[in-house]
Amino acid sequence: MGSTLIINIGILANTREACHLLRGQELALLPCIENAYLLLEDDQIADYGPMSEWANNQKIPGSVIDARGAVVMPAWCDSHTHLVFAGSRENEFVDKIRGLTYAQINAQGGGILHSARKMNEISEDELFVLAWKRLEEISHLGTGAVEIKSGYGLTLEGELKILRVIRRLREKSNISIRSTFLGAHSYPEAYRENHQGYIALITDQMLPAIAAEKLADYIDVFCESGFFSPEETALICQAGKKYGLKPRLHVNQLNSIGGIQVGIAQEAISLDHLETMTAEDIRDLSGSNTIGTLLPSAAFFLRMPFQPARQLISSGAAIALASDFNPGSSPSGNMQFVVALACIQMKMLPEEAINCATLNGAYALEMGSELGSITRGKRANLLFTKPIPSLAYIPYSFGTNLVDRVMIGGEFI
Ligand code: NIG
Ligand code: FE
Repeated sequence: MGSTLIINIGILANTREACHLLRGQELALLPCIENAYLLLEDDQIADYGPMSEWANNQKIPGSVIDARGAVVMPAWCDSHTHLVFAGSRENEFVDKIRGLTYAQINAQGGGILHSARKMNEISEDELFVLAWKRLEEISHLGTGAVEIKSGYGLTLEGELKILRVIRRLREKSNISIRSTFLGAHSYPEAYRENHQGYIALITDQMLPAIAAEKLADYIDVFCESGFFSPEETALICQAGKKYGLKPRLHVNQLNSIGGIQVGIAQEAISLDHLETMTAEDIRDLSGSNTIGTLLPSAAFFLRMPFQPARQLISSGAAIALASDFNPGSSPSGNMQFVVALACIQMKMLPEEAINCATLNGAYALEMGSELGSITRGKRANLLFTKPIPSLAYIPYSFGTNLVDRVMIGGEFI
């Protein structure tokens, strides 16, 4: 590919000489360079600075791209999605408008179990086509790295089908993808009264099969009343660890039942959702190395209270933002909208929201040293905006797609 010079960048955002996971007041600092250049070598960031410092006698690059005043920033790092699903669930969306709750829909065999029935009817090839379209959609919306979970199979074959589709996405796409096994998303119909039996299926059959094909990087559990208890969550995390899968968990979405504490004890990389947090939960998470990942579009879609971002930031927690793209609680993977919701509904500053959706999202994917900022040696996964007056315009102008072009590994998609 050689070298590529990008000139006339209106704002080059999130430029960092060195990176670390951001917490507290650091989150509000988003280093930027106005009227900047960016030099790429192959798929990596080689150099950057103000246009005035680009000396003509430097090495003439293979190609020059004129950014025409656009904001250029790291592509979004979306560290929590379920984008491999077999079909939409707008019927339940209407049921909820008519008054049913998320928990009632699940108790009637809807929700996750509805998605699981559809999953077990679809072929792997058909599933791949659907998932590929969603991956293309989010990449054109500016996402350059994504985590994808299983969890709509709830049978050995169903879970393997999803994880194999994730592997195929990884093979075909240049987007950076992490894969998570979420067999413990719900108790399937057949095991409604036999929790031990399903946990044994996960630990004794699913996990060895997944490990044999190296299909997952992480293990996830939906730790929630009516789903998996903190004790069950701990057992499943421990079983996953034996196969090298680190935990990243769904906790504190509907109830605070000890998910934060079990996640920290299990050294989870990330604890996600956090709509329902007690003062103790906030304190414990803030004192740990675990990232709290806020999913405001799920809270929005389910009409739940939004995550307590301000309290988490002021108590020093490391937080990230992700889309939760899934058919039941967030049928959108649009990270621009996630960032807008974070600012509008959780009162995050635009700088905080952008840091949480780029650099801290990269750390939540364990890709903090490769992605999420404009740093020499990092991979050139970049988002070019349409002409906009400032960075705050991104969350302000919610509902408009402000992404003009997206570059993955140094190439426009
Ligand atoms: O992250 N809360 C658990 N899992 C998903 C929703 C699953 C579904 O409703 O299909 C979530 O919100
Ligand atoms: Fe989720």
